[in-house]
Amino acid sequence: MKLENPSVHASTLEHFWMPFTANRAFKAAPRLLAKADGMYYWTPDGRQVLDGTAGLWCVNAGHNRKPIVEAVQRQAATMDYAPPFSMAHPIAFEAATAVAMLAPAGMQRVFFTNSGSESADTAIKMALAYHRARGEPSRRIIIGRERGYHGVNIGGTMAGGIPGNRKAFPALMAGVDHIRSTHDLARNAFSQGQPAHGAEFADELERLVTFHDPSNIAAVIVEPMAGSAGVLIPPQGYLEKLAATCRKHGIVLIFDEVITGFGRLGTPFAAHYFNITPDLLTCAKAINNAAVPMGAVIAKNEIYDTIVNAAPEGQIEFLHGYTYSAHPLACAALLATQQLYVDEQLFARSQAMAPKLAAALHSLKGARHVIDIRNLGLVGGIELEPRAGAVGRRGLEAHVKCFEAGVLVRFTGDILALSPPLIIEEAQIGRIVETIRTALQSIE
Ligand SMILES: Cc1ncc(COP(=O)(O)O)c(C=O)c1O
Repeated sequence: MKLENPSVHASTLEHFWMPFTANRAFKAAPRLLAKADGMYYWTPDGRQVLDGTAGLWCVNAGHNRKPIVEAVQRQAATMDYAPPFSMAHPIAFEAATAVAMLAPAGMQRVFFTNSGSESADTAIKMALAYHRARGEPSRRIIIGRERGYHGVNIGGTMAGGIPGNRKAFPALMAGVDHIRSTHDLARNAFSQGQPAHGAEFADELERLVTFHDPSNIAAVIVEPMAGSAGVLIPPQGYLEKLAATCRKHGIVLIFDEVITGFGRLGTPFAAHYFNITPDLLTCAKAINNAAVPMGAVIAKNEIYDTIVNAAPEGQIEFLHGYTYSAHPLACAALLATQQLYVDEQLFARSQAMAPKLAAALHSLKGARHVIDIRNLGLVGGIELEPRAGAVGRRGLEAHVKCFEAGVLVRFTGDILALSPPLIIEEAQIGRIVETIRTALQSIE
């Protein structure tokens, strides 16, 4: 590679400022992936790594699937890009229709973004625009939940509840409050599926609504099952209570389904799994198997109609959008991905494999350092006892040991997370779990 700038060195790791990464530690001992296929990655030196995390909760159909690769190649050769503002291209409408067909009844309006973070901020703006359009512009407060993750843009950072993510950015956005996290190890450790205790944590929403007054509250945003903050499964009855409180007070309920969307729980969305229809639903990642960046907000028809009908004819109704909204390559990947989900019945497969993952995971009870195991659908969480004075080290070390042994698991602090592609085989589940068991034996 010929470089003009003498201060830039080819083939070094120093120029890429890595996201959500301890840059100095990583660059001292990099873990690189260079090739992928099906359930596997390969490192640049040709070592095979079994993917226990579907990349980053996103490659639900497995890697480099031929129909998706070919669809993107075809689209790139046909039309690389088309402007999405006051213009469009046909497969944008086809892509929206494909998503609308999967969405809960009454939620058939789809706004495209490029990521989960953009979806969260778009949904927050939609909720504010909706209340303004229906004549209640005072409704501006957004309520999130401690340990919630809604990406890294301003709305998502502030509505999110991970202290470290918020610490350096105080008060980016006014009018945000939080209900407590549902995590309750003392009562719920080693629960299978939804824990029995904690529905009452939803009562806190009623308290906040009274405190702020309903006339000031725009929306509640929660992940129906929280992934990024360490696989936190909603207690039985909890989401039902949250939804009832929102309905009672005219508050927009936003489900952040960036992780749970597209078969992770064996259903198209967690909304189907829990049989709760939110008002707005954000998604991304597996929408197109992560082949091209893409996200979406799925809105209740009534929200779309209210915002659109409030504007004078001919005027732009919702002044929001991205240069790459409904990017042709992303749409092509979406259509091929959704077809693959149907052809291979991957959501049903996810449902069928979930009990096998649960059984394998819970066999780790009693393994070294393990203080909790959680599961729902094709998701697993293993919480490790933090090492005194070094919170998060054990999680990182377990991740590194597993990677060295040829298995990719995710870690968040001292919690290991599993979310394999939906094509995983039972023997591969066994290999992942045994690799974790061995790794835990070998770390202090
Ligand atoms: C629930 C949730 N919301 C939002 C995001 C942010 O998505 P992105 O990284 O695509 O911006 C994530 C990412 O993991 C997520 O899990």
